[in-house]
Amino acid sequence: MPESHFQTKVGETLKWSPVIGRETAHIYERMKRVVPEAEWMVHAPYIHAINRLKRERNAVILAHNYQVPEIYHGVGDVVGDSLYLAKQAALTTADIIVQGGVHFMAETSKLLCPDKMVLIPDSRAGCSLAESITGADVRALRLKHPGVPVVAYVNTSADVKAEVDICCTSSNAVQVVESLGVPVVIFLPDQYLAANVAAQTNVKIISWAGACEVHERFTAQEIWEYRAAHPGLEIIGHPECPPEVIAECDFSGSTAAMIKYVKDRKPKQVLMVTECTMSDNVAAETPDVDFIRPCNFCPHMRRITLPAILNSLQNLTEEVKIDPVLAVRARASVQRMIDLK
Ligand code: 13P
Ligand code: SF4
Repeated sequence: MPESHFQTKVGETLKWSPVIGRETAHIYERMKRVVPEAEWMVHAPYIHAINRLKRERNAVILAHNYQVPEIYHGVGDVVGDSLYLAKQAALTTADIIVQGGVHFMAETSKLLCPDKMVLIPDSRAGCSLAESITGADVRALRLKHPGVPVVAYVNTSADVKAEVDICCTSSNAVQVVESLGVPVVIFLPDQYLAANVAAQTNVKIISWAGACEVHERFTAQEIWEYRAAHPGLEIIGHPECPPEVIAECDFSGSTAAMIKYVKDRKPKQVLMVTECTMSDNVAAETPDVDFIRPCNFCPHMRRITLPAILNSLQNLTEEVKIDPVLAVRARASVQRMIDLK
């Protein structure tokens, strides 16, 4: 890997300048509705440096919909839900992938691109779902339910993916479960996504007791209260929420499906029952929609910052590595999902 020609000292605070202001003005246009000018002057030098270094390194930044606006709109080359990011990782011609997201997403990219360098700007960016289950737990489940196929949400470690039959995301979970053509499946680790899938299929679902620490905090009561307080409010929820919360929503889908709902229908007022940063990202692009925003944010997603991304690209850290033998089995589970038409 060639040395970068663009170097700053590690930890150095980059400073705003009128030149940076001019060269990034078109980027600020994309997020000016949600990022105040004073904040922009802090972010712009990093955005300027990251975009330049990306070109120099032939790197691509895959940013999840929950990344903060300065990453999502400022440096993300590909933005989307977990399924879209995985598919785009598999297609990229870049030499380096920087994951704007949490660790399991970076692992998924590495599984799909074993020959590329995959960087996670902060490897502490975990996920309560991924941490709720291990490969050994899956082996124990198989012993308890012999012959029952196992579907794993992509929010799992490579260790877990290596033990299952197929992966899914929130956008294809029902399709994946039904694709197996069996009357019963084990679906892990999200108990709420499992219950929401079970409500849409005749396949019997055996679930695991994992939960997303962000989505499990929503309650049906607070949804009623928002409805009562805002007549005409459209409410859309992510299926990691408890089923009684989803039952109160007008629509439920993956983060990408929720964004599409808002962009297509342009509701006068909307509540996105999910990680709250996403509302900022969509609000930046939909000036006519009023967002009600209870702020449940994901602390793991917030570990990814512009300085962390810059540091990651400069020093090529932290590189995601997966044991090659385990990776072959884990990749097969992700690939089976991607190959589903
Ligand atoms: P999707 O973007 O696939 O809907 O996933 C949501 C999520 O919680 C990712 O951490
Ligand atoms: Fe995990 Fe929930 Fe954060 Fe998504 S929002 S990364 S599921 S903890």
